[in-house]
Amino acid sequence: MSDTVVSIEGLGKRYRVRRSQSGDRYQTLRDTLAHAASAPLRWLSGTSSGAAVFDDFWALRDVSFGISRGDVIGIVGRNGAGKSTLLKILSRITEPTTGRVTIDGRVASLLEVGTGFHPELTGRENIFLNAAILGMTRAETTRKFDEIVAFAEVAPFLDTPVKRYSSGMYVRLAFAVAAHLEPDVLVVDEVLAVGDASFQKKSLGKMHEVSRGGRTVLFVSHNMAAVQALCTRAVWLDQGTLAREGPVSEVVNAYLRSGEQPTTALPGQPLRAAPSLDLLRFDLSPNPLTSGGRLNFDLAFRAREATTISELALLIYSPLEVRVAILDLRPFGCPIALAAGDTQSFRGAFKSVPLVDGEYHVGFGLRASGHAADHLRLAVLRVLGPPPSAGIVPYAPEYRGVVEMELEVSPAHG
Ligand SMILES: Nc1ncnc2c1ncn2[C@@H]1O[C@H](COP(=O)(O)OP(=O)(O)O)[C@@H](O)[C@H]1O
Ligand SMILES: [Mg+2]
Repeated sequence: MSDTVVSIEGLGKRYRVRRSQSGDRYQTLRDTLAHAASAPLRWLSGTSSGAAVFDDFWALRDVSFGISRGDVIGIVGRNGAGKSTLLKILSRITEPTTGRVTIDGRVASLLEVGTGFHPELTGRENIFLNAAILGMTRAETTRKFDEIVAFAEVAPFLDTPVKRYSSGMYVRLAFAVAAHLEPDVLVVDEVLAVGDASFQKKSLGKMHEVSRGGRTVLFVSHNMAAVQALCTRAVWLDQGTLAREGPVSEVVNAYLRSGEQPTTALPGQPLRAAPSLDLLRFDLSPNPLTSGGRLNFDLAFRAREATTISELALLIYSPLEVRVAILDLRPFGCPIALAAGDTQSFRGAFKSVPLVDGEYHVGFGLRASGHAADHLRLAVLRVLGPPPSAGIVPYAPEYRGVVEMELEVSPAHG
């Protein structure tokens, strides 16, 4: 097994969490002080005759798997599943409670925004500091320096303390440093969520390049299309345990199928869709949708004042912000004139939505009383791949674009 670069055996991480008597896992400082005032000795000793004061909480439990050189592993799972904890252990930022991790080589990590960089130091100083932490010599760093700065697009701010950077600049620089310093294992935790679309694309490309160079990448993301595009394998963590590990499409599909589905993306109050209109409802179903299936939609608006809806369309975007489709709703009778207080709903279906498996953002564009507005990220539509034909291994999602077309095989002739 000389090709195994990371081996994880029986990994467990326990946190001790102070518990309040109400049974909440976390407790505010005020609770703690109130508790201390009423029972000072119990608080100090950490034991009690009544309620337990600490809870053992296992963020990871008996997780084992191996990673081969050059693998790109996506780590998926819901919030709190233990993904960041796993990456922190791999990065040696925190110690496991049980089990062990063996890594053959040098690890570079990009964890939450805010780790790794020193806020008072300039961009330039932080590059050298991080490089030194990663064990690079000054000469090596100097050689890579211009490339890092160019990739991060921070040249004008190199001598500015990073605490003055926007979160986007900060992430770009942190990513550029980690990805260019030729680690054997590159660990990236959800940072892509922060960058803009073009940087996301660029950093996905860079991770791909790093892996083609034979290096190993571990990548946590909620963006399933990015995971499918980039990763060869995936690990699904569920409440601290390993739910599944294997080829990326298998694991991602199993994970998506397991989910409870939000049917609507609206927060509690109506969304101001245009100066004259509130959006009351925005439902898509089913979600997840099987590729090629029927997608039902239900939108409702209420006029704040007399207005005319002249255009309305659902807009579907790929995770990399590429517009995939406009579903034009003008046939509902636009232009539609509404009096103040009127509601208008748009309910219907698209008979077939033949998208490649992944997560798409759905929103709408609207023109009312001459005012145009787009609302692009109202819902995430999860699309599951169709079952593969018997005996045929599907192409990896990264090769499949966004449209999944249905095949009809003609009978063979003579
Ligand atoms: N330092 C800590 N102390 C106590 N609990 C923690 C600590 N760090 C993480 N946790 C808990 O461990 C669980 C896993 O967290 P995390 O690894 O951040 O999950 P994920 O990255 O998958 O969202 C969560 O329930 C979280 O609240
Ligand atoms: Mg996390």
